[in-house]
Parts: sequence; structure tokens; C-alpha cells
Amino acid sequence: MSLRSLINVRIFLSVLLILLLGGATAVWQARQSVAKEVQSSINLALQMIEFGFAQVPVSSRSGSNWLPQISALKQARHLQISIVEPNKKAVEFMTQRVVNESNTLPPTWFINAVKTNYFTEKYEVSMADGTITTIFIKADPLDEISEAWGESKAFFWSIAAMVCVIFLAVNLVFHSMLRAVNSILSGLRQVESGRYDIQLPHFNIREFDAIAEEVNEMSLALNTAEQSNQALARHTMKIQETERQTMSRELHDEMGQSLTAIKAMAVTTKQGNANVPKVADSIIEICNHLAKVVRSMMKTLHPLSLGELGLGATLTELVNEWRRRHTNLAMVMDYDAALEGLDKDVAIHVYRIVQECLTNVVRHAKASEVSVVLTKQNDKVWVTVADNGVGGQASQHGFGVLAMRERAESLGGKFVFESVEGQGVTVVVQLPYSEDGA
Ligand SMILES: Nc1ncnc2c1ncn2[C@@H]1O[C@H](COP(=O)(O)OP(=O)(O)OP(=O)(O)O)[C@@H](O)[C@H]1O
Ligand SMILES: [Mg+2]
Repeated sequence: MSLRSLINVRIFLSVLLILLLGGATAVWQARQSVAKEVQSSINLALQMIEFGFAQVPVSSRSGSNWLPQISALKQARHLQISIVEPNKKAVEFMTQRVVNESNTLPPTWFINAVKTNYFTEKYEVSMADGTITTIFIKADPLDEISEAWGESKAFFWSIAAMVCVIFLAVNLVFHSMLRAVNSILSGLRQVESGRYDIQLPHFNIREFDAIAEEVNEMSLALNTAEQSNQALARHTMKIQETERQTMSRELHDEMGQSLTAIKAMAVTTKQGNANVPKVADSIIEICNHLAKVVRSMMKTLHPLSLGELGLGATLTELVNEWRRRHTNLAMVMDYDAALEGLDKDVAIHVYRIVQECLTNVVRHAKASEVSVVLTKQNDKVWVTVADNGVGGQASQHGFGVLAMRERAESLGGKFVFESVEGQGVTVVVQLPYSEDGA
């Protein structure tokens, strides 16, 4: 069920309940007031009769000479008076009736609901000839009920008008609310389908405006992440291509030429006058050179020692190499031996992160000291590389910091780059620890 239908049904049911309660109250009030009115009319009529007969002594009560004394009764309301004299036809008359404006009778159900069983009052008068004339006073509240019906109708119509206004107001509010909801929904669907450039408009309702702002911020963050991912992917592909070019050049320049030279020397040894020991020395020299080239190429591609010697030794080798190359930079490494069992797939990421951090220190920090600390705490690997250089912001142009963050996050870890101007940069990476071969 849609929100609009749900609200409409709820309002309709509430209004129905209000109408039913209001209607029942109106009928009950009408019933009370009609009963009261009728009772006071009957009391008034009885007082009038008593007063009227008090003026006429019993001896002069004959024929119809006493009738004028009770004619004032006609002024009373809602009564039906019957005068019954022995051996005579009963005289009946109605008292005053207020004529209903529309002259229409209320519906029977309303009359039945409002009317109660009114007692017929009886007043006996002694006549001069010793007979008794009886006056019956009966309630006839039809006009009073008509009046109550008119009031109840007005009450119902005013409630109905109020209901219409409430319905209209609620629908108007819901219309604008649902428009906002639909707009947010369509925005979220676009984000879901990969369109991160959408921006929702501002809404007048504060809560929806806050949601729209959050959606906008989310899509902006996704857009930025997508763009940096794309840039990183492009950069990775470029690096891959450059590495392939370098390898192909090295293979061509070093291997190709060396192999050609070895082949030429081998051909020379076939000739009878060749100085074989000298040629053999040359071949050995070329082979040694080739072995160096191959080792360096393999190291660039992947630190083989990681699998053979473990993370600690490979990192020590890396740090030592940097120490040899940068003698004015003091490097300290603190390695927790508990990391030796770290999964090789995670270890290579740790190695690359330390490598990139050290490269950055050398390239950007102008530092005199750098410390590399690797620890294992509560099933987490902590890598901290801190220098005392100039500090700097991880600008958007480089890819090293971005790649380190990607590495950490792809493993379910965290990456923090902290820089204090003039005091250096600290990179803290936290990775989940997993045992090798687990
Ligand atoms: N240790 C550091 N000290 C000072 N500035 C640093 C340090 N590390 C990083 N930065 C700053 O952060 C920026 C981004 O570093 P990042 O490694 O992402 O890129 P890069 O080193 O410039 O290029 P590359 O993509 O080759 O790594 C650097 O350009 C530098 O300004
Ligand atoms: Mg870098």
C-alpha cells in the first residue's frame, strides 16, 4: 500500500470514528434537551391549570364557563391536551407549535432515537353537578425534535466541511512530501546504476533537504572515488606498459647483444687457430654480466627473497639498499618477529607500502631521519613510517599515496597520512593479520 493511501485510509477511519462519536453525542444531547423541555412544558401546563381553576369556585363550574380559565394553556409548547367530560365527546387541542423553517419532518430513525416514553399527566376537576372532568396532558415534542434535527444537521455538515479541509490540507502536504520522496528515490536509482554525477535539488521540508544533501554528498564521494580509481587504473596500465618497454629494451640491449657476442665467440672457437681460453674468459665475463642484469630485472618485478627469506629479511635488504644509496638519511627499522608467519599475499603489500613510503621520503621530505616500524597487535599488522622532513599534502597528482590507500582498503585495512608542516609525515597502515597458508 502506498504512503498516500495509507494516510488517507487512516484519516478516513479517524474521521468516521469522530463522526460516529459526535453523532451519538448530538443525539444524546438532543434527547436530554427534548426531555427537559417537555417536562418543563408539562409542569407549566399543570401550574396554569391549577391557577386557572383556583379562580373559578366549584359551584360555578358548569357547562363550559370554566374553559376560558385554561385557554392560556395554548401558550405552552409541545403539548396535546384532552378534556374528557362524562357522557361527552372529548375535546382535544394542541398547544403552540413552532413551525419548522423548512417544514420538513426529521427522519424516523432520528425521532425514534431522540424520543423517550413520556408520561401522560392527568388532572381531575370537580364540577358543580358533582361530576369529574379529566384533563390529560400528553407530550408532543415533534417540533422540538425538528429543531434538534436542524442543529444536528448543521453539526454534521460543519464536521463534513472540516473533514474535506483536513483531507485537502493533508493531501497537499503529502503531495509535496511524495514529490520529494520520488525525486530522492530516482536519484538513488541513478546512483545505483552508476551515475554518480547527479545532484538532487533543495527541498522546502527540512528533513528531506537533509536526506537530499546526504545523497548529494554520497554521490560526490562516489564520483571522486570512481575518478581516482579510473586514474589509478590508467596509471597502473601506463606503469605496466613502461615496465614492459624497459624489459624489452633491456632484453634487446643486454641479452640480445650478449647472446650475439657469445654466439660469435662460440663460432670463433670452431676455427683451428682460435685462442680458446681467452674466448672462454670473455664468455664467462658476459655470462656474469647477464646474471647481474637478470637478477636486477627479477628484483624489480618481484622481490623473490620474500618467499625464500621472509618479510623481515626482505625489508632489511630494502632498507639497507636505501641506506647505501642515501647516506645522509638515517634509517631505523623496528620489525616484530611475530610477523614472520604473515600470509605472503599480504606481505607483498606491506613490502610495496614501505617501498613507496621510503621513495616518498627521499623524493619529497628533505628529511634527515626516517623510522619504519612493523608490529603485530591483536590480529592486526601495523606499519608506521615516520620522517622528520618538511611535511606535505598528499596532492592529487601523485598515485603513490592513492595506491597505498587502495592496497590497505582492498585488504579490509585502514590507511592514514598525517603531515605536520616542518615536522614531517607519518603514514600509518593497519591491515588484518592472516597466517601464511591459512
Ligand atoms: N614523506 C613525505 N614528505 C613530504 N611530502 C610527501 C611525503 N609523502 C608524500 N608527500 C606529498 O604527497 C604527494 C603525493 O605523493 P604520491 O606518492 O601520491 O605521489 P608522488 O610521489 O608525487 O608520485 P608517484 O605517483 O610517483 O608516487 C607528493 O607529491 C608530496 O607532495
Ligand atoms: Mg610517491
